[in-house]
Amino acid sequence: MTPDFADGTMRILLIESDPRDARTFAEKLRHACSCFEVTIEHDLDQALARPDDDAWDLILVDQVFPGCTGLETFDRALARWPEAAIVVLAPFADESMAQLAVSKGAQDYLVKKDMTDRGLDRALRYSMERHRAAAERRFLVHELEQSRRLEAMGQLAAGVAHEINTPTQYVSDNVRFLEEAVRDLAGVLTTLRKSADAGEAVSADELKARLDDADLDYLLDEIPRAVEQSLGGLTQIARIVRAMKECSHPSSEDKTPADLNACLESTVLVSTNEWKYVATLRTDYDDALPDVVCLPGELNQVFLNLIVNAAHAIADVVDENSGERGEITVTTRALDPDWVEVRISDTGGGIPASIENRVFEPFFTTKEVGQGTGQGLAIAHNVIVQRHGGKIGFESRPGKGTEFFVRLPVRPEVLEEAETRDEVCTV
Ligand SMILES: Nc1ncnc2c1ncn2[C@@H]1O[C@H](COP(=O)(O)OP(=O)(O)OP(=O)(O)O)[C@@H](O)[C@H]1O
Ligand SMILES: [Mg+2]
Repeated sequence: MTPDFADGTMRILLIESDPRDARTFAEKLRHACSCFEVTIEHDLDQALARPDDDAWDLILVDQVFPGCTGLETFDRALARWPEAAIVVLAPFADESMAQLAVSKGAQDYLVKKDMTDRGLDRALRYSMERHRAAAERRFLVHELEQSRRLEAMGQLAAGVAHEINTPTQYVSDNVRFLEEAVRDLAGVLTTLRKSADAGEAVSADELKARLDDADLDYLLDEIPRAVEQSLGGLTQIARIVRAMKECSHPSSEDKTPADLNACLESTVLVSTNEWKYVATLRTDYDDALPDVVCLPGELNQVFLNLIVNAAHAIADVVDENSGERGEITVTTRALDPDWVEVRISDTGGGIPASIENRVFEPFFTTKEVGQGTGQGLAIAHNVIVQRHGGKIGFESRPGKGTEFFVRLPVRPEVLEEAETRDEVCTV
């Protein structure tokens, strides 16, 4: 959400425990710019309990409140207003505290007594601008990822259509056969009913001759088989359509518990046409894998990128005409109660040591124009590390193949706990 103070007013909530300091600072603010509209709160809990419809452009929060240590006041304000621009007001200069505040998302760390009117005006405007630019960047990255996701699904569409076409064809053939069979049986039954209506007795020989004409034994064998095959085909079509819907569903900002085995199953299914001509795909799912609180649509895209990369790597080394095939293996494991791991390995040519450090760079690709744009792994990195606090990496043996791994925390709280201990995994 980008802040908007098009009406020329910047709405500021000033949370300051000392009433005298608060008054003096509010005065300073109004003096710095008449566009600053300041609301003062002395009590942190009351400030945090203010209704949601108070739309603040900027929140100034005092670092020092009774009972709060370090950056606790800022942490609580950020948890309450995650979308707001927040500036910390400090009693005295502390460079390491200032750095920590900014790294946690504060727009600035201002030492109260040092601020001149002009300095304050400038600092708050710059804070707003930084906040606006960061929000716009987040929005654009999100838009880019959404369009890239739809583009990836678009590229799969022809393959998915092909996958649906095969069962559709044999369902149609079976239904046509059933139509003829029903017509033949209906013919026998109609003549029998006519005889019954006319009070004519039908001899056993005559009855047998009519049933033979309709080829009853063949029909009794084939009809159940045709029904079973049609139901199988329809189930397959429904599975593909469901998987396609799951994979192309616009991602939401809210994490939800998801079964990663099912996500992978859908992704494997919709990408079938990408790998089936060059590889056999083996899955080894951990039945005891816990649901992971995540953004399933985004994870599906990561898994899709990794499977398509694996298929491309194999296609580069096998001779399709000779019928030679490589192998892709998809594995899931619960590493411990808090973390799960997905591995996708291939028997392609491997990643040469010379480009190992570059594969996650945006737009780095070794593929020809039209084959790759170099965004797949950059997006995967962003989704796994930034969005989920997980880890993504690979082990590769040139000439033998590559194995990518994705490790994810089962619950976002694990991430938050890790963050407070500064232990979030990165590549
Ligand atoms: N499984 C793999 N085996 C060998 N090389 C790989 C593998 N996965 C990725 N790479 C290398 O990393 C590069 C970057 O991969 P990435 O998925 O980001 O982009 P891309 O596949 O080239 O294009 P895009 O995914 O945007 O269609 C690839 O061009 C390829 O050189
Ligand atoms: Mg790729």
